[in-house]
Amino acid sequence: MLENLQPQPADKILALMAAYKADPREAKVDLGVGVYKDATGLTPIMRAVKEAEKRLWEVEDTKSYTGLVGDVNFHHAMRDLILGETVAVENFAAAATPGGTGAIRQGLELIGMASPDATVWISAPTWPNHPSIIKYLGMNMAEYRYFDEAARAVDFNGMLTDLSNAKPGDVVLLHGCCHNPTGANLNAQQWQEIADLLLAKGLIPFVDIAYQGFGDGLEADAYGVRHLAKTQPELLIGASCSKNFGVYRERVGILMAIAQDTAKTDLNQKTLAFLNRQNFSFPPDHGARLVTMILTDPALRADWAAELEDVRTGMLKLRQMLATTLQKRTGSDRFGFIADHRGMFSRIGATPEQVEAMRVSHGIYMVGDSRMNIAGLNEATIPTLADAIVEAGV
Ligand code: LMR
Repeated sequence: MLENLQPQPADKILALMAAYKADPREAKVDLGVGVYKDATGLTPIMRAVKEAEKRLWEVEDTKSYTGLVGDVNFHHAMRDLILGETVAVENFAAAATPGGTGAIRQGLELIGMASPDATVWISAPTWPNHPSIIKYLGMNMAEYRYFDEAARAVDFNGMLTDLSNAKPGDVVLLHGCCHNPTGANLNAQQWQEIADLLLAKGLIPFVDIAYQGFGDGLEADAYGVRHLAKTQPELLIGASCSKNFGVYRERVGILMAIAQDTAKTDLNQKTLAFLNRQNFSFPPDHGARLVTMILTDPALRADWAAELEDVRTGMLKLRQMLATTLQKRTGSDRFGFIADHRGMFSRIGATPEQVEAMRVSHGIYMVGDSRMNIAGLNEATIPTLADAIVEAGV
């Protein structure tokens, strides 16, 4: 049997992680995987997470199973964080999942159960695991234009035109904020126009929100998803706590199914539980419990939000510094978009050959489509990157 297995395409982000690790050079710069790093290159455990772990150790008295969909207090803490006051409990169903990827996977399976012929529309470009999972599940998939490569900004007209070709009942996968890989984001006006289009065409939004708090702040980053929650009859959300709580390896994610028709909520909730049971039974609990403690304890929450805000503003400073350095080196403003983009990533528009040249000559690791993780930079490595970009002729 096992001789029948075929090699699967390598995930380019994970392959890059391995290549970086294997590079013996001391002076190398990891701008690959989407993991936050401080100025010393460390991915720190956030203060509130450490404190919550200490408290959890004191109070936790069992490791017995939780419910199939995880802890309901986690659902409501996350509903409050992502959706604010926009969704009432009777419209809301949720299940904890192993990370954001788990939420995306379960959400796609839910779509497959409810509407097997629906096409899932993904942004071009998007996080490579989106099309990979959709293909793996054998679902219909189409792309909508999202990024104007020349302007390094959202191609909003292209997006509207392509989505107007979707058929009623199709699903549109949207990045809630901090678009991965481009760093170019919809503004409030554009979210409103997209919401109007979804409604007019009978399309169902599925929002992937993995970087809330990394763009313009916790509240501002939730604008789009909250607007959809207020305006759409149905909404799916896959959320990750990996980045904004820094709990990557704990696998903390959640899938939410929101319906304006409250009669649907009970079946939505039962279906989410069924899906968890088929795939892994009980979701990981430790990280979700830490997140819940932090979000429901005012002091811990304030400390977490303050640290996250420092992370966000630190990345904005790095963006500004890199844009200014490149402005000086090139004598042009063509890299000004780096300061305008938001979140962990920007796609700088280098060819795969130029990306490879930067890796060979300067030990700079960015994804082959020239996505770079801003958090992988620091004051010392910005000049190196600027040199590499100029030398490679980007
Ligand atoms: C990324 O885009 O680098 C992260 O979301 C990590 C991953 O799993 O790909």
